[in-house]
Amino acid sequence: MKIASVILAAGQGTRMRSSLPKVLHPILGKPMAWYSLEAARKVADSPPVMVIGHGAEQVRSMFGAMSRFVLQEQQLGTGHAVLQAAAELRGRSELVLVTYADMPLLRAETLMQLVSIQQAQTAAFSMLTVMLEDPHGFGRVVRDVNGNVIEIVEEAQASDEQLAIRELNVGAYCFDAQWLWDALPRISLSPKGEYYLTDLVAIAAADGLAVNALRMDDPKEMIGINNRVHLAEVSGLMRARVNQHWMEEGVTMIDPLAVYIEPEVSIGKDTVLWPGTILRGGTSVGEACVIGPNAIIQDTTIGNRCTVLASVLEQAVLEDEVEIGPFGHLRKGAHLAQGVHLGNFGEVKNSYLGPGTKMGHFSYLGDATIGEQVNIGAGTITCNYDGQHKYATQIGPGAFIGSDTMLVAPVNIGEGAKTGAGAVVTKNVPPNTLAVGVPARNIRKLK
Ligand code: UD1
Ligand code: CA
Repeated sequence: MKIASVILAAGQGTRMRSSLPKVLHPILGKPMAWYSLEAARKVADSPPVMVIGHGAEQVRSMFGAMSRFVLQEQQLGTGHAVLQAAAELRGRSELVLVTYADMPLLRAETLMQLVSIQQAQTAAFSMLTVMLEDPHGFGRVVRDVNGNVIEIVEEAQASDEQLAIRELNVGAYCFDAQWLWDALPRISLSPKGEYYLTDLVAIAAADGLAVNALRMDDPKEMIGINNRVHLAEVSGLMRARVNQHWMEEGVTMIDPLAVYIEPEVSIGKDTVLWPGTILRGGTSVGEACVIGPNAIIQDTTIGNRCTVLASVLEQAVLEDEVEIGPFGHLRKGAHLAQGVHLGNFGEVKNSYLGPGTKMGHFSYLGDATIGEQVNIGAGTITCNYDGQHKYATQIGPGAFIGSDTMLVAPVNIGEGAKTGAGAVVTKNVPPNTLAVGVPARNIRKLK
């Protein structure tokens, strides 16, 4: 059976008190609705249709590649919102999955369970329910004496007796498509001036059709975000879920509560993460690394058996057995080959450091290409910027750069060459040559 998916994301999210649309508030660095989209994409046969309204252009530009969009110009309720997708989806699938964009913890596995009960039993649709002690804000699931679901009553319309019901509507449904598209226009306006999607339960009952309710055990998955307290709560649960996954995959966390890993990160087994480790974006960490305490790593690829202590890495590449820190800073385009050692207060930008090269203390390399087994003395600086343009520095294999050398780019240091402490190098130094002074002169050939 073909499965289409609709995600409702047009609401304003008034209770967030924000100028950012609710569904774009980030959780682990991803806009909230990204999680709903990812889950729906795993279950549906075609890209989900997102119903957008508030902040429509912002939402569209954020998810353009992952989703299709229909506009709900006025937010007249969840039933009205789904109806906006009719033109796009009617006749295109046998089943339609509907979810809300403010429930990022809801997993694809759960949606698949929902789809399979709809496929197994003839019903107008299947829905998720949950038993909760605090039912505040949820629609109440009303069953008849035989246990059949006959109605969902929204809180605002519920009687005292109904308010006491603890089985609640989660807000995830799998519909028989043909029935859905015919039934939606039959929803009538509620006293609050909205078309409630949840009225479809009573409409199905009136049609003599069943509604399956799949009662969920883990209420954490069902949390919908309406304000920033919920946002923080869901962020914490999502962080715990991601961390648990990596621990199950063989990653050690000294204190999982103090480790922050975004959803697209990957980590190899036997890697140890110390407190204060923050792994962001598309970062990947290899096996048997030791990261942290206090490492902020963004969009960086790290090989195996590397050490990163109290450092900041952005858009960098580390091959195997690289050591960084404490207090190293790698910026965009830093590429450290196997066995590179970068000690305290080293900064590298847009530069390649060859295998085994050492840069122990207080140095800056920008726009440089460094060969293997080079020694960068304390305080070495590539003077790569003259206020208008950036210039390149090259250092050949086995060179030895003396402490406090200023490399005034563009400049080349030959293979096996040496600079004296405090040299200001403005001209190329040939291979195996010693250069000293200000500006540096080549004084003799080296053995
Ligand atoms: C909804 C359910 C309620 C359920 C609860 C679970 C209805 C009528 N009620 O209530 O039974 O227990 O979720 O969290 O469905 N949206 C639109 N267009 C609209 C209105 C809403 O796209 O015109 C979107 C919102 O952006 C949001 C989702 O639909 O992503 C749910 O809307 P919301 O107002 O949060 O519904 P609840 O009052 O939470
Ligand atoms: Ca909600």
